Amino acid sequence: MFRWLVNFGFLALPIAATIGILLGIQSQRQASGQPPLFVPTLDNKVVEATYCQKSFGVHPETKGQQYILNPNQWGWNVGDPGFLCMNVTTFNNQTYATNTTAPEWKIFWQYPQETGDGNNVHAFSNIMVDGGVFPVGLKSVSQIGIDMQWTMRTDNDTGPTDDVALTAAKVNANVAIDMFMDSDKTKAEDSTKATYEVMVWFAAYGDTTHTVGQDLGVVSTLTLNGTAFELYYGQNLAKQNVLTWKATSPTHDFHGDLHPLLDEIFKLQKTGYPSETDYLGYFSFGSEAYFSDKPVTFSVPSLSIDVRTS
Ligand SMILES: *[C@@H]1O[C@H](CO)[C@@H](O)[C@H](O)[C@H]1NC(C)=O
Ligand SMILES: *[C@@H]1O[C@H](CO)[C@@H](O)[C@H](O)[C@H]1NC(C)=O
Ligand SMILES: *[C@@H]1O[C@H](CO)[C@@H](O)[C@H](O)[C@H]1NC(C)=O
Ligand SMILES: *[C@@H]1O[C@H](CO)[C@@H](O)[C@H](O)[C@H]1NC(C)=O
Ligand SMILES: *[C@@H]1O[C@H](CO)[C@@H](O)[C@H](O)[C@H]1NC(C)=O
Repeated sequence: MFRWLVNFGFLALPIAATIGILLGIQSQRQASGQPPLFVPTLDNKVVEATYCQKSFGVHPETKGQQYILNPNQWGWNVGDPGFLCMNVTTFNNQTYATNTTAPEWKIFWQYPQETGDGNNVHAFSNIMVDGGVFPVGLKSVSQIGIDMQWTMRTDNDTGPTDDVALTAAKVNANVAIDMFMDSDKTKAEDSTKATYEVMVWFAAYGDTTHTVGQDLGVVSTLTLNGTAFELYYGQNLAKQNVLTWKATSPTHDFHGDLHPLLDEIFKLQKTGYPSETDYLGYFSFGSEAYFSDKPVTFSVPSLSIDVRTS
């Protein structure tokens, strides 16, 4: 996982200095006990900023839970056809609705379909829980509270998701939570080294948007606060065990505790499945962007991820 952070505070500086230099100065000052160079203004202004980089995270200042937002266009290179930008809306007062409320964000993108065996997943733009919440032993996780609302559209209007328009535009994309787990704390934090990936898909649009192991059939089912999920299992090319709880129809709002989905996996005790003795090292929510005939806007006007331990 690429964790090169850029604080909003830094962006107010002369553009001539590179971000790398600024990060260097800031950490040097912090290491030597000096106050940070840039003290943010704590007024009530709302700031919407745009990030179109391939892949590095943005870390808004907050008095509540820390989050890192990342356009993460891992399957796209500068110069390739297609584009993706992320807008992040922050409050200068660093105080959101609740301790775990995330800044509002959206992505707008369009990528072409790759021909032949080309990789069609161009990005997993996401918001990741930061600030030392993970790694955590799965046995001690008592709740994964999600309060979330999203929309996906082929225009920039604020209305609800138009599933018919998405189908007509051949949008291939999903909306998902991504978690990584391992018996080793450090590996659990590394999406390339973790033994298990557990995903929760709230929607999958398009003919090619398949979970790993979808062809092998449903392994288990569970309904959480009105949303029916089906579990799939398979291994990806890196031989990681991927378990996906996929909603049977698009779920644009979800309010509830995801912990029962993990409990069900632990109960099954199958080879290749994580168990309670493993660690949860990474947690993010976002959208995998495959391709589309029209520009797509995925918005997350309200999100809270509240992980509690006991
Ligand atoms: C912080 O700013 C936001 C946006 O202006 C506002 O809605 C909120 O009430 C403010 N919170 C506090 C504690 O001042
Ligand atoms: C994204 O943010 C910019 C300001 O940085 C704003 O001008 C633009 O309208 C926003 N785009 C969308 C789709 O909301
Ligand atoms: C929010 O966090 C602060 C400090 O971490 C704590 O004192 C407060 O009780 C929390 N509020 C809620 C609603 O959890
Ligand atoms: C939405 O707004 C962005 C600029 O903020 C623009 O690049 C994009 O093309 C717009 N999408 C549509 C479908 O108009
Ligand atoms: C179930 O969802 C409803 C509405 O979506 C929400 O008001 C309620 O709090 C949720 N229940 C739980 C137990 O989270």
